[in-house]
Amino acid sequence: MKRASLQLTKRLLVISSATFTLFSCGKGIPEEETSEVASKKAFSVEEVLEMVAAENDITRTLYTKGIVGAGKKQGMKFDEDWQDDEVEAGPLPALFLRGISADIRKSPVPLGLYLGSDYPINASNKLEGKQAELFEKIKQDRKPQYFFDETQKVHTAMFADVAMAAPCVSCHNKHENTAKSDWKLGDVMGATTWQYPSDSLSYKEAIGVLNAYRNGTKAIYNAYLAEIAAFKTSDKPVIGEKWPSKGFFLPTAEVFIDSVRKKASYKTMEKLVKKGASVVSR
Ligand code: HEC
Repeated sequence: MKRASLQLTKRLLVISSATFTLFSCGKGIPEEETSEVASKKAFSVEEVLEMVAAENDITRTLYTKGIVGAGKKQGMKFDEDWQDDEVEAGPLPALFLRGISADIRKSPVPLGLYLGSDYPINASNKLEGKQAELFEKIKQDRKPQYFFDETQKVHTAMFADVAMAAPCVSCHNKHENTAKSDWKLGDVMGATTWQYPSDSLSYKEAIGVLNAYRNGTKAIYNAYLAEIAAFKTSDKPVIGEKWPSKGFFLPTAEVFIDSVRKKASYKTMEKLVKKGASVVSR
């Protein structure tokens, strides 16, 4: 018992300094990289995927409510074909997520991220096989599901993707390709699936996963701003400190990420403290 709590304290110290470094300077890999602690397999794959999934929830909510929801009220447009030259619009939330996922794939971090559903708009997002089976459980209790995917040889985690903002529901219900038109606020609309090849990660690898996700957010957000810069006929929002809730504005990538960072570091710490309490009381 004593040993368990001592180990836990050590672990929390490692994690909190990791979170601190990650969330405060944003650069990522801290000095401890070279130390013994950095290479020890300190985290289970589930723990790390849980942390990155929590950050994804925050990013996704912020983008959906703060950019898409508020932006639409200002007349900004968001479209499936946002990258086409003749379409002057920003990415839909699902395509924002896919942009993050595509950027991670280009990085050296072997992390996979997908968004699926049992009633998808895009048929290629339909959950199948083991994932479809586990999604039934997720819909019932909203708890994450983990399994080892034998065919792809990857550890897989699935997390509920919930309709947490009005635009999720209204857009899906009225979409011409929707497979379901009675979504309600709070419904589990789908799941994010995360994959990673090993069952445990070092401190350095865990930070690598979190940084890869954050760099992906930055990349797709900047791609959106670059799209706006190339608008020929539409008005361009003023890009700076302000958000669309204040007018025809968009935050810069730094302002957007900073907002994610503030919310995520709190959540990550809260999770760790909760986890700590449960381990100590065992
Ligand atoms: C403005 C429209 C719009 C908004 C807002 C929107 N979605 Fe979607 N969503 C789409 C479209 C279109 C797709 C299909 C994109 C693709 O993969 O081609 C999609 C894909 C998805 C998928 C993958 C399965 C599928 O339907 O293809 C899930 C799950 C999902 N959205 C959930 C949400 C949630 C939760 C929110 C709110 C956080 C949200 N969506 C907000 C339009 C929207």
